[in-house]
Amino acid sequence: MPVPLLDLTAQYQSIKDDLDAALAGVVASQRFILGPEVEGLEAEMARYLGVPHAVGVASGTDALLLPLMALDPRPGDEVIIPAFTFFATAGAVWNAGFRPVFCDVDPFTFNVTAETLEAVRTGRTRAVIPVHLFGQMAPMSGITEWADAHGLVVIEDAAQAVGARQRGPDGLPVMAGAAAPMAAFSFFPTKNLGAFGDAGMVTSLDETLAERVAKLRVHGGRQMYHHEMVGTNSRLDALQAAVLRVKLKHLDRWTDARREHACAYEGRFADLPEVITPRVAENNFHVYNQYTLRVRRRDDLREFLGGKGIGSGVYYPVPLHLQECFAELGGRKGQLPVAEQLCTEVLSLPVFPELGMDRLAEVADGIHAFYEG
Ligand SMILES: Cc1ncc(COP(=O)(O)O)c(C=O)c1O
Repeated sequence: MPVPLLDLTAQYQSIKDDLDAALAGVVASQRFILGPEVEGLEAEMARYLGVPHAVGVASGTDALLLPLMALDPRPGDEVIIPAFTFFATAGAVWNAGFRPVFCDVDPFTFNVTAETLEAVRTGRTRAVIPVHLFGQMAPMSGITEWADAHGLVVIEDAAQAVGARQRGPDGLPVMAGAAAPMAAFSFFPTKNLGAFGDAGMVTSLDETLAERVAKLRVHGGRQMYHHEMVGTNSRLDALQAAVLRVKLKHLDRWTDARREHACAYEGRFADLPEVITPRVAENNFHVYNQYTLRVRRRDDLREFLGGKGIGSGVYYPVPLHLQECFAELGGRKGQLPVAEQLCTEVLSLPVFPELGMDRLAEVADGIHAFYEG
């Protein structure tokens, strides 16, 4: 039986009536720009995450761009980001007018740490963006303590981590998006909370910053035709908000299914030395937006699985410091060895909530057949 990397149709079919009704409601109201659906989602997300402010924007990319613009970059100001993440993290830094500075990551959690960030800090560093990669939070208490000591702003890239959480030093859980003054979420359709198109959200613990972001998303002014700053058009679409409000009610159940799948994979790969399963930091609740292995002979394995109709993905094949568009920043091979090695070893497997244990067994059997056959 073929196993896709992701099957969005299965999720749609399981809640079709509610989704169709929500979309029809917006169409009947003809309120497409901001309005009650967007405000409703902002309030529900703020409650879910335990943050005071949430601002719906057009994409996860803009959810990074607008908070960075809100910091008023000066020429030469630097923002540290991991070299191992989706391109948008770097693109937003660049487009906001900052210079991206790339750091290495932990080889087992794939995330930045205070140590990997400190290794590239300079006198020009203004901010840092820890990415909660694949659905597991970066070690936020260490990172915020380090950032506070150096007067740096922290923006969480929680694009892959809606619902992820972490116990802090006080033993209390903090959600991804509530661990720093500002955070960015993506609701791209393939994300664990996915819209029917592009959509994103900024969350903030700080009223002034949230207000600035809310202005930046409507050309820099709350009052029509009065502009205090130059912003852009980046509103969360009301139709997308309506879809997301329906889906948010199911998110925790879907996360449980993802976590069960991860646990089953872990058991199935325990006897395969060629396969390194994702490590979860002891204080973390991982939501497995991706289930990502480190494997030997990755490209051959991927081809072998593809031959059996089993989907897999490589997130990400090229580290950001070696991307052609950043050549002028002087990145060179060998500079960030962990990120570079991960790009040759990572392989993401199907983990979506509707996968089920039978199809999961097919994937695991396929991987066993490759290494044992
Ligand atoms: C880590 C990370 N940051 C930012 C983004 C950008 O989000 P979007 O695709 O919604 O613009 C993504 C989405 O792919 C992502 O995975």
